[in-house]
Amino acid sequence: MAYIDWQDDFSVNVKEIDEQHKMLIEMINSLHEAMLANKARDLQKQTVNRMADYAIKHFALEEKYMMQFGFAGHHKHKAEHDQFTAKARDLKDRMQKTGFVLTLEILNFLRDWLRNHILKVDKEYSSHFTRSGLR
Ligand code: FEO
Repeated sequence: MAYIDWQDDFSVNVKEIDEQHKMLIEMINSLHEAMLANKARDLQKQTVNRMADYAIKHFALEEKYMMQFGFAGHHKHKAEHDQFTAKARDLKDRMQKTGFVLTLEILNFLRDWLRNHILKVDKEYSSHFTRSGLR
């Protein structure tokens, strides 16, 4: 059983964005599974690289739609994205310098991001985007 299963009420009702959110859940589940199998060290670098990649692609997409559809919460939302990007950069830097970061730190950060950003802050644009015609 996965650590976190996708549920319909996670959806922001925009398919392209939901698919990217599912990728983040998959990152969490893979890391959790590897941790239980004592193989998390192997997956740490890959996860941190995936986080950096996710930040570039996913945030650019949401921010593009927020601009395009004149979403009022754009700047506040972008500030949270910038925090994620900074965290991914920090993890990457520390891993390069010391070769080590705590797996639990990465896992907890991603889990909290799901709870506090995807399931709360992202939800705020959902009805605005769908009213603007996105599906
Ligand atoms: Fe889906 Fe605002 O990140």
